Amino acid sequence: MSLTTFEPANRDAATSERASASGSNGRPAKVTVPSLQQKKLQHQPISAVTAYDYASARIIDDAGLDLILVGDSLAMVMQGQPNTLAITLDEMLLYTRGVRRAVQRALLVADMPYGSYQVDDREGVANALRFVKEAGAEAVKIEGGANRAALVRRLTDAEIPVMAHIGLTPQSVHRMGGYRVQGKTLAAIDQLRQDALALQQAGCFAIVLEGMPRELATILTAELDIPTIGIGAGPDCDGQILVLHDMLTLTFSPPAKFVRRYADVGAAIRQAVDAYKSDVEARTFPTEEESYHLPSGVQI
Ligand code: KIV
Repeated sequence: MSLTTFEPANRDAATSERASASGSNGRPAKVTVPSLQQKKLQHQPISAVTAYDYASARIIDDAGLDLILVGDSLAMVMQGQPNTLAITLDEMLLYTRGVRRAVQRALLVADMPYGSYQVDDREGVANALRFVKEAGAEAVKIEGGANRAALVRRLTDAEIPVMAHIGLTPQSVHRMGGYRVQGKTLAAIDQLRQDALALQQAGCFAIVLEGMPRELATILTAELDIPTIGIGAGPDCDGQILVLHDMLTLTFSPPAKFVRRYADVGAAIRQAVDAYKSDVEARTFPTEEESYHLPSGVQI
């Protein structure tokens, strides 16, 4: 990274340029909970992706996506854990703070980690408040169905917008016996319909539909007034979300069926690191032009 990247004057200029770009110059204004609702009403697709760090969040925000989720998927893609269960509230807060510094336009949603809202609703509200107060989140996401309706009510009473998440809920990995597509029987479909309606009634502003048959997601999207954001739920949801590392090929196992790989960033990093290693070993890096010199008149 060049030194000029950190010069205060450059940073200020870049920041004011970004600030003035939002809401003017043809760029859409700040995304809010009501503006996402408007998008559903106007049948405009909602674009969402995960982010876990300042640099990627800044690129995503500049690209104009509607919603950035600091997902607990970071336990797997950033920390190499086998599932999302072990990530802590403090770790989620840390990552969310980094993303917050980058995001000016997108709606910033933080994922509540496993264990931070399952014990009781009072603790769930206290933990969600930490995301808002300490990390600047504008909403939180929780997994679960009608069993979370009371918590959703408490959170919305506390002025914290809630995005729900039903279907394949990764925090239920042990109950589900793995990451399996949900909603394949009539009973399961009926349950998911009841869950979605209960969560909407409780006050959720949006709902993630993960890992379910396209036909079911289509019905839920039509039945609900709030936006549905799909991942592995087909093209008829009001919006789509992907895990950033999946779409960039920064993962090390074959992708799920629903993942589209938009770039091979893993290969690009490997190529760059291989080239750097060869240059160092061949003593062709750094060059004279890449070196500092004493000021004229100073001799050692
Ligand atoms: O943690 C996460 O990234 C998520 C998305 C897959 C919706 O929950």
